[in-house]
Amino acid sequence: MTSVSPRVIALDGPSGSGKSTVARGLAIRLGWRYVDTGATYRAATLAVLRAGTDLDDDDKIAATVAAALIGLSTDPAAPAALLDGEDVSLLIRGPEVTAAVSAVSAVPAVRARLVELQRELAGPDGSVLEGRDIGTAVMPDAPVKVFLDAAVSVRASRRAGDADAGVASHSEGLVDRVTADLARRDRLDSSRTASPLLAAPDAVHVDSSALDAAAVIEHVLALARAAGIVS
Ligand code: DC
Repeated sequence: MTSVSPRVIALDGPSGSGKSTVARGLAIRLGWRYVDTGATYRAATLAVLRAGTDLDDDDKIAATVAAALIGLSTDPAAPAALLDGEDVSLLIRGPEVTAAVSAVSAVPAVRARLVELQRELAGPDGSVLEGRDIGTAVMPDAPVKVFLDAAVSVRASRRAGDADAGVASHSEGLVDRVTADLARRDRLDSSRTASPLLAAPDAVHVDSSALDAAAVIEHVLALARAAGIVS
């Protein structure tokens, strides 16, 4: 008998845990769709910033996001974020968006709209989704749920080495600043009322502090084989 449950891998965890590299690598290996849900919140935040919407006004934020056309390329070899038809993949990694994204993603109406979009992007079968609430809210029935974490110092070093950090190169104090920003975002993302960053009770916890992406990918593939969604 074939399984009726869709083949989905849910990957949650804080910034710098290695989620994106692992999720993309898995989707490439499996030929599945890759859904970077953080990119949808970042594109929504760019829309809010461009509209000059007050970041303290939840209703206006929700209205701005509702009027924005947000899309993603789900090809893991060429991921991209689109806002009103424009490729905003680089812009959404900038410091302005990074500073405002926690406020926008805390608005329940924004989450409701983007969760719907994320499920559409995942398609009917064969997808890897990464984010903060995939296992708890977006895909609560996913047969494989992983909560990926790493020590904050390791996460900050990874982020500081990323273009994601919104800086061109390492500089003195950079890792300290990135550590402070990560701690701030972890606190905001974990303490918000609507779908906080939280491991699903049935998620497998993986600490990537001492593991490279290839090792984490192999580990998750083994979980997917054990769950019967990958041969
Ligand atoms: O993964 P990222 O850093 O690109 O995510 C950007 C922000 O979006 C992050 O601070 C929290 C938010 N986010 C969220 O609230 N829910 C998700 N599923 C993904 C991201």
